[in-house]
Order: sequence, then C-alpha cells, then structure tokens
Amino acid sequence: MKMKKILIAIFAISLVPNISFAGPKAEVLHWWTSGGEAKALSVLKADFADKGGEWTDMPVAGGGGDAAMQTLKARIVAGDAPAAAQVKGPAIQEYDDQGVIKPYNIDAVAKAEGWDKLVSKQVAQHMKCNNFTQYCAAPVNIHRIDWFWANKKVLDSNGIKMPTSWSEFNAAADKLQAAGIIPFAHGGQPWQDATVFEAVALGIGGNDFYKKAFIDLDQKALSGSTMVKVFDQMRKLKSYTDAGSPGRDWNVATGMVMDGKAAFQIMGDWAKGEFSAKGLKPGKDYYCSPTPSNKGYLYNVDSFVFYNVKGADKLEGQKLLASLIMGKNFQKVFNMYKGSIPARLDVSMADFDDCAKKSNADLNAASAAGGLMPSYAHGMALKGAQSGAITDVVTEHFNSNMSSKDAAKKLAAAVKASL
Ligand code: BGC
Repeated sequence: MKMKKILIAIFAISLVPNISFAGPKAEVLHWWTSGGEAKALSVLKADFADKGGEWTDMPVAGGGGDAAMQTLKARIVAGDAPAAAQVKGPAIQEYDDQGVIKPYNIDAVAKAEGWDKLVSKQVAQHMKCNNFTQYCAAPVNIHRIDWFWANKKVLDSNGIKMPTSWSEFNAAADKLQAAGIIPFAHGGQPWQDATVFEAVALGIGGNDFYKKAFIDLDQKALSGSTMVKVFDQMRKLKSYTDAGSPGRDWNVATGMVMDGKAAFQIMGDWAKGEFSAKGLKPGKDYYCSPTPSNKGYLYNVDSFVFYNVKGADKLEGQKLLASLIMGKNFQKVFNMYKGSIPARLDVSMADFDDCAKKSNADLNAASAAGGLMPSYAHGMALKGAQSGAITDVVTEHFNSNMSSKDAAKKLAAAVKASL
C-alpha cells in the first residue's frame, strides 16, 4: 500500500513539467514595421502559429534598428531579455561576452539540422558564440546594401540609363535637377547617411580600400586622399536631395521613387520589399542595379539571437523558431517579400525576380574576386563603438559645410579615439 502511494506520487511529480508546459512561446523583438518588412515577418509568425507556438510581438519602429537596439539593451540590463531578438554581426558576440546568451539553447537544433552545411562559412561564423564554436543565432537572409533603385518612367522619359559610374550618376542627376525632378530621394537619418556613404566608399575606393578603412580601421585609409574623394561625392549627393530630406524615414524616400517624385534612391534591398508590397515589378515599374564598384558587394545578414531565458515553454519556443527560420520554404517565401536572398545555399533562385537573381550572381562573383564585404553601416563589420564613431562624422559632414579634407581627418581621429 505504502509502495503504491509512493509510485503514484512519483508519477504525479513526473507529470508536473508537462502540466505546466503550455506549448512553445516566444517574445520576439524586431524593427520590421514597414509594409514590406511586416509582410515578410508575417510568414514567420504564421509558421510559428501553425506549429502551436504563441508569439508575443515586440516591434520597435525605426529603420536600421537603432531604436530597437536601445530598447533591447535596456531590457537586458534590467535582466528581462526577450526569447529572441533581431541582432546581427559582431553585436551577437558582444552579447555573448556579457554572458547573457549561454548556454546556447539552439545549438542542438543547429547541429541536428546540419546548419554548417546549409549556409556559407562566412554566414555561419556570424551566428556563433562561445569562440565561434556554438550556434546562438539563426540567419534569415542576405541583404545587399549597394543598390540604386530608380523610377523607370522618370528615367526613360528623360533619356537616362542606370548609371555605371559615379560620374554618370552625377551627370544624370544634374540633368534631372535641371528638369525639376528630385534626383536623389534620401532620408536624412544617420544610418541612412552611413548606408549611402559605404556604397560610395566601396565604389570610389574599391574593395581593398573598403577593407582597410572599415574592417582594419587603417588610419591612412581613413584620412587619405581616397577618403577625401568619397566625401566629395557625398557632398554632391547632398546637393541632389530635397529640402524635406532631414529626418525622413527610408520607406518614405522609397515611396518618392515609386511615385515618380524622385528618380533614385541608394538603399539596401529591403527597399525592394516596399516596391513588391505595392505590386510593382523590376524592369517594368522600377530599375535596380548595383551602385558602381569593381565586383564589390556589401552584405548584411539579418539574424535572430536567442537569449538565456527560463521556462520549458520559452526554451521550446526558441528551438522551434530557430528551426523554422532555417526551413527551406520559409527562406524562399520570406525573402521574396523581404527583398533579400536566402541565407540557405540550397534554395533555388528560379522563382525570384531579376534583382534577387542579380544579387545572388554578384555575391558569388564578388566572393571569388575578394569583393564580398560586410556592411559597416548595418553592423556587420565593426563593434558598436567604432561604427558609431564613423557614422557620427559622416552625418556631421553631410549636414554641414565641413570640407572633405576636414571630414577625412576627423574620421581618422574619431576612430582612433573609439578604440
Ligand atoms: C535590416 C533590414 C531592415 C532595414 C531597414 C537593416 O539594417 O537589416 O532587415 O529592413 O535595416 O529597417
């Protein structure tokens, strides 16, 4: 009799975790709030719900994620990390250094599903913690930064072709400006200035220069004559913007190109997500082409990092989310909406549009030519202190009469001080 009671008690205890486990849950912090971004994210939300997951949305609006990263930092300092957050590049390893990610709950999923074989080594490295030995983040895509987006009707009716050099761009912009059209739709926010700046730097300086300046943080590259030319082109670009540019959101700038109020925008291919969400097609309604460079390609991999959280439901939620993110069909559908290309290497590009196909082909060509570069402006190349120091100078120059020479000097000094 006594034995029977004990067995019942043991049985009841063993049931406890199951009774309290209400299914996988995840609070997800992100900044995907524009039309195209939200549409893409809804694919993940739907997949999660289909598998019985309960998604708590934590959107923090603001292009480029600066506001989201502030909120995230505050949550982590308060000891209240979300289960998953959109974080990328070296910031992932910076969080790991703070000890808020381990014990790397999703690594078992990554090992079981063989992620090392599904993504390139370069992408895999970004996703790993613990000295790059264990997965702690899952990649959703590869965005390209160095793109021109243009209104087809505006270009065609003014006899303008997509520029293949910066001087061709300047000539086209002069012509458009004379015709009363805003040549360059730009949102004057620091991260957008930085986005344009790195595309110009890659184009004017070339791949080695980009690497020296924004990866090696070489003082000579940061202060030298090539950097002066980069700032000269930034000054030109500023002269092609309209008076409403300061503070404008990136998707509003994309809208100006869509509506034919402006001719060009320089922006990562999440801009294509906006065109797509409005049913517009490349080659028919708008043009895409890489900004001029010598087989360069600035990449930006969006990823979700999974923090150290407690509770079986949250831990299961993290695992489910990680597995769904790396799903083959998810990577296709999500990226068709988002404007990017899949991080997974085995997803066919056949159903993607021409801009995405170009991105994929150029990525491979750039990789072979040594031109595949992490975007500094989107947090893929540097830690926050260094990228912040660069962007501060870029924005200050763009919004003042600072000379290019002074800007280059200031840039080198700011980077030095940040180290
Ligand atoms: C992210 C994109 C996002 C864009 C605009 C970039 O840093 O990688 O996913 O769409 O910012 O918010």
